[in-house]
Amino acid sequence: MSEQSGSESLFLRACRRQQVERTPVWMMRQAGRYMPQYRAVRKKVSFLELCKTPELACEVTLQPIDEFGFDAAILFCDILIPLEAMEMKLDFTPAPVLPEPVESAADVDRLAVPDPTQEMPYVYEAIRQIRSSLAGRVPLIGFAGAPFTMATYAIEGSGSKTWPRTKSLMFSAPDVAHALLAKLADCVAVYLEAQVAAGAQALQLFDSWAGILAPPDFREFALAYARRVIDKLRASPTFRDRDVPIIYFANGCAPYLDVYADSGADVLGVDWRVDIAEVRRRVGPNVALQGNMDPMCLLMPPDGIRARVKQVLDAMDNQPGHIFNLGHGVHKTTNPEHVRVMVECVRELSTR
Ligand code: CP3
Repeated sequence: MSEQSGSESLFLRACRRQQVERTPVWMMRQAGRYMPQYRAVRKKVSFLELCKTPELACEVTLQPIDEFGFDAAILFCDILIPLEAMEMKLDFTPAPVLPEPVESAADVDRLAVPDPTQEMPYVYEAIRQIRSSLAGRVPLIGFAGAPFTMATYAIEGSGSKTWPRTKSLMFSAPDVAHALLAKLADCVAVYLEAQVAAGAQALQLFDSWAGILAPPDFREFALAYARRVIDKLRASPTFRDRDVPIIYFANGCAPYLDVYADSGADVLGVDWRVDIAEVRRRVGPNVALQGNMDPMCLLMPPDGIRARVKQVLDAMDNQPGHIFNLGHGVHKTTNPEHVRVMVECVRELSTR
């Protein structure tokens, strides 16, 4: 396998919109239950134990790299781990449950502001072990939830389809919602800065539920706080002497394309509900794009997958600044052999 270490990797070059020999590919939620190797590890430990045991987190992070040859690894952890470090109770069943959700200004005040390396040492140890095990094969992406998406879990206490508590707080007590978002943004910035110090070579902010918002609310409650995290990172001492691309993924971005690039990210994640060529026209040339095949296309037979991969690559016309990915996380019923087909098609069809 070729060396893709440091600034030479296809992935990092594509993030910077530099020329590449072919389009790099990785997949959101690439380490997970669709892989038998992952399920074998999960038989022995709970999901939270897996996140908190660096040797195991390292093992499952590398599983999809070894199996499919993705062009980037992503830290195995969860976006809700920092909420636990902020002293919210957290469990996975496997869906997340937070039995004491945020309801008031006093609840926001009570949230701890953790020193992440003290409270989540396993995250940073996992990063060091992953970098060492990867030995420069591909770069490592660190990540966090964007403040808005973390707030939805903190306020609902679980996932939701309509997010009534979140919207009620935003619309009826906006000061409380803003105080929560500001606190989350500041915690996330410090958490991510330390991931870079430990060895993360790119960062992704997951705004999985940003798409539930009307455009003015997206700007006020989601984009502004993603931007706050990104601005803080760029101003931090750790970033001054490193070139670490930042990816912002707002799932359901189509209604917000006129402001999406204002996040300040180097790369914008694109979900599958929008034509990625249209996204390129609307956000302009100064940002890379990552996406956007519908994850459920992997349930099709290989010919269908090949056609859908080609559609995405054609929409980007082999221009610099594209990273192939799914439009959201891979579904747990996906046949791993279909993932292999996708990766092989990207490699073959995008070679310049
Ligand atoms: O991408 C990767 O391979 C890295 C690992 C990763 C996980 N979660 C592991 C996980 C990442 C990057 C995440 C991010 C995450 N977590 C998001 C943002 C991305 C997205 O999908 O929108 C969100 C919203 C969460 C919250 C979360 N964690 C939910 C809603 C669930 C339950 C639903 C589900 O997919 O299982 C989890 C659990 C979770 N996180 C699992 C994994 C592998 C399954 C747990 C298990 O093994 O039982």
